[in-house]
Amino acid sequence: MAAFRIFQLLLINLIFYTAVIAAGRDFYGILGVSKSANTNAVKKAYRMLAKQLHPDKNKDDPEASQKFQDLGAAYEVLSDPEKREMYDRCGEECLKKDGMMNNNDPFASFFGDFGFHFGGESQQEREAPRGNNIMMDLSVTLEELYSGNFVEITRNKLVIKPAKGTRKCNCRQELVTRNLGSGRFQMTQQTVCSECPNVKLVNEERLLEVEVEPGMVDGQEIKFFAEGEPHTDGDAGDLILKIRTQPHRIFERIGDDLYTNITISLQDALIGFKLDLTHLDGHKVTILREKVTKPGAKIRKKGEGMPNYENNNLYGTLYITVDVAFPEKDFTAQEKEAIKELLQQSSVNRIYNGIRGL
Ligand SMILES: *[C@@H]1O[C@H](CO)[C@@H](O)[C@H](O)[C@H]1NC(C)=O
Repeated sequence: MAAFRIFQLLLINLIFYTAVIAAGRDFYGILGVSKSANTNAVKKAYRMLAKQLHPDKNKDDPEASQKFQDLGAAYEVLSDPEKREMYDRCGEECLKKDGMMNNNDPFASFFGDFGFHFGGESQQEREAPRGNNIMMDLSVTLEELYSGNFVEITRNKLVIKPAKGTRKCNCRQELVTRNLGSGRFQMTQQTVCSECPNVKLVNEERLLEVEVEPGMVDGQEIKFFAEGEPHTDGDAGDLILKIRTQPHRIFERIGDDLYTNITISLQDALIGFKLDLTHLDGHKVTILREKVTKPGAKIRKKGEGMPNYENNNLYGTLYITVDVAFPEKDFTAQEKEAIKELLQQSSVNRIYNGIRGL
């Protein structure tokens, strides 16, 4: 009987493990995201892990290349709603059966064409000529700078491909010395070239995933390696995207602080008010005043500014400047008496040089 129990347990285990293997890799686990993670979170996780797990950075780990491939596959599936839906329903095997895994490495979309010199340590030493960098403005909203976002850019890029024949390359000026005899030499300069395999420029469409990180500042640069202009004898230049903030209807940003203005009625200015303000990510900021609010008053909300780029847990301050809308109507003699009765405020009539504050 006991033997039978053990056999049964073994069988259950076996079935369980077979099921796990048949289901394929755990893409959520590989990316470290939850089942409910949105596409942005998937992209963020991929971008972060791809930097850590790139095989060129993990030369001592024999499994580095497999880990990196798993990461790419996880990204491919979870970033695509159709593939993800299928994966959730019946696992990796289903995707494979339907030929839906194309195993493209998404790395270049996030970082540019690193080729085989990842890390950049050896870049300085290499004397190879480089194509020009391309600078481009990337127009982003304040909402994107607050919450972070991935912006997809499709770029037509000239890529160098092998072609038939050879071409002259590595051309350089060399001094050639000719012995004219009896101690006389003639030196002439000559252009000397090598023969290289021929290349041609082909237009290719590239998808770039640009991460606008929370708290990035206007003018900040995002670099895509080797996505700039190509060079037939060397590496392509870089593509440099410069953050340009679009003006916002409600908020103005200065450093990590935000500024906004509100207009309230004279009545609310006198008796107090409650007002909900919708922030850049949709959350509500409640402004509650029970006291008299003067025109030009500044209300400070700590922690409701922009996130700090270096430390996203730190936020700047939101400054709200109040403006008071006075009534447009004319008051009757009776109403005027009532106001006097209520306010009990005698005339002030101070006359002064307000420009100099004297
Ligand atoms: C809006 O607020 C700013 C300060 O935050 C102030 O300089 C400006 O005068 C205000 N604008 C109006 C129309 O009250």
